[in-house]
Amino acid sequence: MAERLHTQNYINGEWCDAALGAVFPVDNPATKELIEEVADSTTTDVERAIDAAYDAFAFWSTTSPIERARLLHRWFCLIVEHTDVLANLMTRECGKPFVESKGEVAYGASFVEWFAEEAKRIYGDIIPAATPDRQLLVHKAPIGVCAAITPWNFPLAMITRKCAPALAAGCTVVVKPAEGTPLTALALAALAEQAGFPAGVFNVVCAAHGVEVGRVLSTHEKVRKLSFTGSTAVGKQLLKQSAETVKRVSMELGGNAPFIVFDDADLEQAIQGALASKYRNSGQTCVCANRFIVQDTVYEQFAERLKEATEALKVGNGLDAGIAIGPLINGAAVGKVSELVRCAINDGARALCGAQTHSAGDNFYMPTVLTEVSPSMAIASTEIFGPVSTLIRFTEEAEAIHIANATPFGLAAYFYTEDRHRMWRVADALDYGMIGVNEGIISTTLAPFGGQKQSGMGREGSMYGIDEYLELKYVCMGGMK
Ligand code: SIN
Repeated sequence: MAERLHTQNYINGEWCDAALGAVFPVDNPATKELIEEVADSTTTDVERAIDAAYDAFAFWSTTSPIERARLLHRWFCLIVEHTDVLANLMTRECGKPFVESKGEVAYGASFVEWFAEEAKRIYGDIIPAATPDRQLLVHKAPIGVCAAITPWNFPLAMITRKCAPALAAGCTVVVKPAEGTPLTALALAALAEQAGFPAGVFNVVCAAHGVEVGRVLSTHEKVRKLSFTGSTAVGKQLLKQSAETVKRVSMELGGNAPFIVFDDADLEQAIQGALASKYRNSGQTCVCANRFIVQDTVYEQFAERLKEATEALKVGNGLDAGIAIGPLINGAAVGKVSELVRCAINDGARALCGAQTHSAGDNFYMPTVLTEVSPSMAIASTEIFGPVSTLIRFTEEAEAIHIANATPFGLAAYFYTEDRHRMWRVADALDYGMIGVNEGIISTTLAPFGGQKQSGMGREGSMYGIDEYLELKYVCMGGMK
């Protein structure tokens, strides 16, 4: 791969233009300059990729787990070797600060390493039968062709978190990356090619408008599994479409993470956790703290410290040194955040800092702290996806839990307390798939990532992640003598 940018689709081991020859622009959100033009695919291209993956499944599913592990290990090493190139590309495509992009390369690579090892541990079971003339066996078999539709906020790690377990299980994949960040996906494909994955095993199809490509991937008979990370609205549509062919699905959808600060918390630790959780990727992650729910006895103190720390964050082009907050992905994102903040202030919220666009450029929004936010405001029920901290006040523990759970979402939740009894009690009471106790960043390859309620279904990473790509097959051997 080296420094060469790939802009064509990667289908059946070949780099190819879109069937109709169309391209679309990929811009740098910090400078609004064109980075490259990329193949703009239609139904024909996606169907070609699905056919290639389907044909490749016939041999890939029968390769030895050791061979699959070997290729995944090679891919892992190549990703790590190309950290700076990949991180630079990622920052230019999605705007995240370079240090964070490097962190994402390491995070993304860790899934490849983990599932390379897991490939060797796809064990079955022998179940004790009721009578001695039978043996009851359970095998785990790869599902088939898997489609991965991935978001722009983690252009690399969301691809590896889905594809590494799929490939380890013996499935083949077709990736449709977000239109904002196809170059990182294509760079990953180039490294997969260099690692030696056979033609058709790993395919990438890019498109400016994902609707048609998503429709094909979610309705095609040959695709047996769809994994999507993105908005709840699109997830619901893909779920409906997938029902027609009864596909297995994994959905990692929107969140509305509460971050509760009790008055027995270590406040400095809570501030550090708040900064890490809220401002990672400029507030554009599904697990970002969306609502700070702060006990009234420490409310003013927490607000003041958060304001000071927020004002100290340096805003600018993610490629420049010391930048903590990059641009938002595009003008529409800035418009949405501005409008949420404007309405909240109209409804009685108070801006301690920020609350306006930043002079660094059209796509930049100032890190903001709003106090006196109430749970009924739109900003408290909408996934903000921007660098805005909203502070809600509470008095009793039960009230905090009620506010935290009063949402259709259930991805991540955080709380800070030094009371060990409260740690168990509150963790039990929160209706969320992932909970951070005195921790603001909890994502890791080692633990299951995923949500409940309208935040989705299925788990990624960890010892559970590979099960999403495997079918249990029960064999009853009878008439044994
Ligand atoms: C996401 O925001 O979709 C993923 C965040 C993570 O993996 O930590």
